[in-house]
Amino acid sequence: MIFRPFTTGLLALCSSTFTSASAIPHLDDQVVLNYADHATNPHSIDADSFTRPSWFTSTLMARRLLALSPSGVMSTTFPSHIPDSSRTPAEVAGLPIGLREYIADCDGVLPADLSHGDNGDPTILALRVATTFRNIGAGSNLSLEIDWWDHLSEAGAVYPGLPPSPAALPRFTLFGYLDTLPELSGAAAASLEKCFLQSHPDAKYWLPGAPAAPHASFWARLVVTQVYWIGGFGDVQQIGWMNVTEWKGVRRHGSVAGVGDGRGWEDVRLPGEKSAVGAL
Ligand SMILES: *[C@@H]1O[C@H](CO)[C@@H](O)[C@H](O)[C@H]1NC(C)=O
Ligand SMILES: *[C@@H]1O[C@H](CO)[C@@H](O)[C@H](O)[C@H]1NC(C)=O
Repeated sequence: MIFRPFTTGLLALCSSTFTSASAIPHLDDQVVLNYADHATNPHSIDADSFTRPSWFTSTLMARRLLALSPSGVMSTTFPSHIPDSSRTPAEVAGLPIGLREYIADCDGVLPADLSHGDNGDPTILALRVATTFRNIGAGSNLSLEIDWWDHLSEAGAVYPGLPPSPAALPRFTLFGYLDTLPELSGAAAASLEKCFLQSHPDAKYWLPGAPAAPHASFWARLVVTQVYWIGGFGDVQQIGWMNVTEWKGVRRHGSVAGVGDGRGWEDVRLPGEKSAVGAL
């Protein structure tokens, strides 16, 4: 059975409320057949024999994806009243806007009295002038979307009978609130800058306190309260809300007491990554 899993995978991806293929517009059997033709040997992989990763394994994948991601799309909303003097059109009042921002998984290098213990709260370099942070300053809620779609060429085809497909690759959205970090100095500032600049060498020109920076910036962190995960097509990956205790409890190596099975995010790989040396 090659075709049914693909169809149910799409169903799961689109919405759990759909109950039949007739609910999907434009799902063309011929397209599905063509996908199968493109597979080198469609009989060698059969989605019926696949099992989804457990939710805990999916959480490890999500924490790994956060750790490897230099940016994500932050969604905020414009204030409900935009002053006449603003250059922002009055028509966008209350509308959502998604903008890509620099992030890094640097909580673990913050000083002990400030760190949340490397719990998956991303560190964000915020520019005061940027729309995202102006909206948050005006009271907007926010979320942050992170995905593995830039890795399609390494990942290749991951779903039986389907050519390389971004929709088959993981992504998630973090909900929470922005916590402005206090001004750091000396060794604390240096450790955070070193961690952040590993993935953003260009950002050294607008770090907080950088001399002659074109725009004032500050350090902030997204304190995560909910995580929505789409691992890929729903018949071979999990889709849904993560257990936030597990999200926060995972570490690079292992996890905190009471969470997980001894593995950390270093023990999983995302589609297309080479397997760990000495891994299973
Ligand atoms: C932000 O979300 C909270 C619920 O988490 C809601 O009560 C509040 O009204 C929202 N704020 C805005 C500005 O939409
Ligand atoms: C979330 O995970 C923790 C740790 O594994 C567990 O104790 C708790 O029961 C889980 N919560 C839910 C709602 O499943």
